[in-house]
Amino acid sequence: MSLCQHADEQGKKVFWGLEGLYVNETEICYIDNDSGKIYYRGYDLEELVKYASFEEVAYLLLYGKLPNARELEEFSRQLRARRFIDSSVIDLLKMLPADAYPIDVLRLSIDYYCTRKKFINTGSLKDNYELAIDLISKLPVVLAYFYRISKGLDVVLPREEFDHPANFYYMMMGREPDPVEYEAVKTIFIIYADHSLANSTFTAITVASTLSDLGSAIIAALSSLKGPLHGGANREVVNMILEIGDEENVEKFVKEKIERKERIMGFGHRVYKSSSRGDPRVPILKEVARKLAEKKGGKYLKVFKIAERLENEVTSRLGSKGVRPNVDLYAGVLLYLLDIPPDYNPAIFAISRIVGWVAHVLEYWKHNRLIRPLERYVGPIGLKYVPLSERE
Ligand code: CMC
Repeated sequence: MSLCQHADEQGKKVFWGLEGLYVNETEICYIDNDSGKIYYRGYDLEELVKYASFEEVAYLLLYGKLPNARELEEFSRQLRARRFIDSSVIDLLKMLPADAYPIDVLRLSIDYYCTRKKFINTGSLKDNYELAIDLISKLPVVLAYFYRISKGLDVVLPREEFDHPANFYYMMMGREPDPVEYEAVKTIFIIYADHSLANSTFTAITVASTLSDLGSAIIAALSSLKGPLHGGANREVVNMILEIGDEENVEKFVKEKIERKERIMGFGHRVYKSSSRGDPRVPILKEVARKLAEKKGGKYLKVFKIAERLENEVTSRLGSKGVRPNVDLYAGVLLYLLDIPPDYNPAIFAISRIVGWVAHVLEYWKHNRLIRPLERYVGPIGLKYVPLSERE
């Protein structure tokens, strides 16, 4: 036996996890670690959270510019008009186990929708925007319906006068959000809408680069997002905080996690580990969470305080390694404060990030190149085939 010695495989560096590699050019999202800012199409995310509606941000990401009043009205009208889902989807939701993972329910619904429509990539931008707006509008409805069906509650019909975040909350919870709750849902929707080349976005463009269709790219992206190192972290964060149970237990919990060399959910990030400023989304979400936690008090304030103590404890022990809170710490807390069951958290990430996935896929197709990297072979070559009867 000899080890592979091909000349073209000698001395080639392997970029594990593609860390630090540029594989694309984009005009969608820029993370500026020097200033600690994130920009969507050149606009400071913090300002967008403060001043813009979700619809404006979605339009900005999808079409590359802020909409004027007429464009915004038309886009919002389209989103509202597509909120109704086929009764066969409702029948499908009724057939699923009540404890199915909501992100799987979303994936199944998109698959069902695209299979029925026989959606393929015609290369038509119009068809792709049609599908995108339809899915952006319908996924929150599917999620809210599944929540209510799985709990044996009556489904709540969409309301024309509500915008995208308010309508989702209303259909899921059966009541209109108050202003602080509305701010929380809108902030989560805007903050989760894009984050450059996250694993799910890269997955989406990888699939799209074969000229497969937009629906398939989104289904693949959802599968990536589900993982606890990515979008599944906001679910784990809440379960971890509930397991900790009390601020007093935080120090021991963190110490033991570090001793066992286990990951602490809601901390660490590939893009921010060498930045002293950390994830710019954290302070934005934290302030909204603080406001809602103080308003609601009781178990809600307790969860917020455990998260804050965790932030301090982990940062003081691991901050020197670049391990600081990431978006999912306070997004998870906020979703808990909104009474969303933790299993729904990754799905809520998805109904927002779909905007970014679509924007990136459509942008990538403008200069499509098949994504097909290399792997360096390190196994043996030239082994002699041994008949089955002679093998040990
Ligand atoms: N808890 C404890 N230690 C950590 C953590 C963590 N959450 N994250 C990184 N480290 C340590 C890691 O063990 C390593 O230590 P050492 O150098 O001693 O081996 C060091 O920090 C550098 O870590 P890394 O493995 O180079 O980090 P990475 O860039 O590969 O990982 C990550 C990024 C997000 C996978 C990781 O930080 C992690 O597992 N975090 C927990 C899961 C999580 O919160 N994910 C959500 C990410 S943000 C939302 C999103 O984009 O989806």
